[in-house]
Amino acid sequence: MALVSWSFPTSIVFGNGALATLADKVRALGKKRVLVVADRGVVAAGVVARVTAALGDIPTRVFDAVDPNPVEKNVTDGVAAFREHQADIIVSVGGGSPLDAGKLIALATTHHRPLQEYDDAIGGDAHIGPDVPPIITIPTTAGTGSEVGRSGVVTLAATGRKTVIFSPYLLAKVAILDPELTVSMPANVTAATGFDALTHCLEAYCSKGDHPMADAIALGGLELAADFLAKAVNHPNDLEARGAMMKAAMMGAVAFQKGLGACHSLAHPLSSEKGMHHGLANALCLPAVVAFNATAIPERLERCRKIIDAGAKDIEAAVIAFRTRVGIQGGLAAHGVTKADIEKLSAKAFEDACHRSNPKDTSREDLAKLYEAAL
Ligand SMILES: NC(=O)c1ccc[n+]([C@@H]2O[C@H](COP(=O)([O-])OP(=O)(O)OC[C@H]3O[C@@H](n4cnc5c(N)ncnc54)[C@H](O)[C@@H]3O)[C@@H](O)[C@H]2O)c1
Ligand SMILES: [Fe+2]
Repeated sequence: MALVSWSFPTSIVFGNGALATLADKVRALGKKRVLVVADRGVVAAGVVARVTAALGDIPTRVFDAVDPNPVEKNVTDGVAAFREHQADIIVSVGGGSPLDAGKLIALATTHHRPLQEYDDAIGGDAHIGPDVPPIITIPTTAGTGSEVGRSGVVTLAATGRKTVIFSPYLLAKVAILDPELTVSMPANVTAATGFDALTHCLEAYCSKGDHPMADAIALGGLELAADFLAKAVNHPNDLEARGAMMKAAMMGAVAFQKGLGACHSLAHPLSSEKGMHHGLANALCLPAVVAFNATAIPERLERCRKIIDAGAKDIEAAVIAFRTRVGIQGGLAAHGVTKADIEKLSAKAFEDACHRSNPKDTSREDLAKLYEAAL
């Protein structure tokens, strides 16, 4: 398969074997010492070894102490590793967790305020300038789109809240999208991460505001996710399906510059409070959210229904049928959430900024009801 290059605005190299371009990309940026940011799962899957091999004789240190759902300490430890190695560039390898951590490590090497002061919800982007070491992203899941996104998500020690830090200066200089690196994902990770991509496209398309470019990209990504996620789950070595899902993930993240919605506000506390995988949290909450939004944006949701499952009676049924097809079973209760958790979860979900762009205004009580509907 021939490699293709896109710039939107990140430079992206896409195709099977794209990893082979890595060393040249590092050199083209004029950089000499690499900190690879990863997690233990991608080390165990053998992906990091392929990345260090692709870096050849460029002096490289691997920092793999990133948690699924990164916490502040991962950032602090990563900055220490960057300094010890005297690195001048970060190559992040993995799912959204290492990709986000890599951005925030890069930020914190040159920006010295406490991380909560950079919180997007309080206008923290105003404190972020261009002096951030360059980042190359190499996704190994097809979900978050963090490889082309401008945000890093981290749970802060001071608040215990999953916090979005957002700035154009956190964009990767180059993203290398090599579908071969995603085939080792277990089926449940493929399904959950793919659901995150699908949710980004759906929520971006449905979010408040007028953004025709984001809308068009969101619909294109939604079509890819609807057509290829089940194939990627059931045929892990199908590189066409893996590549299509990488495109859907990338498109979702480009589209959600427009905004997301209540589903992401519900999902974030499920990760910070209950340790649930982010994509799974979205999959479990999305049916209740689309049902809640149905009267506010009937035409948009009808368009989504036709894309996801034209045979379904309504958008809620379409999302549930799709979720079942990719092997995600049960509701929140089957995944360890109880009725007693809802008060705390809904308070945290209300503090989260994503629901502000939900097509229908969402109160704290609405969020509690949505959790209950998703139980
Ligand atoms: N920056 C953004 O815009 C954005 C958007 C959505 C979500 N997020 C964040 O991203 C994080 C979730 O990222 P994710 O869904 O990609 O999951 P993840 O990065 O946490 O990875 C999930 C698990 O899969 C393993 N894994 C990853 N790739 C693998 C591979 N190829 N083979 C075998 N195992 C593999 C990892 O080691 C990990 O154990 C959350 O913290 C979430 O909040 C960020
Ligand atoms: Fe997400």
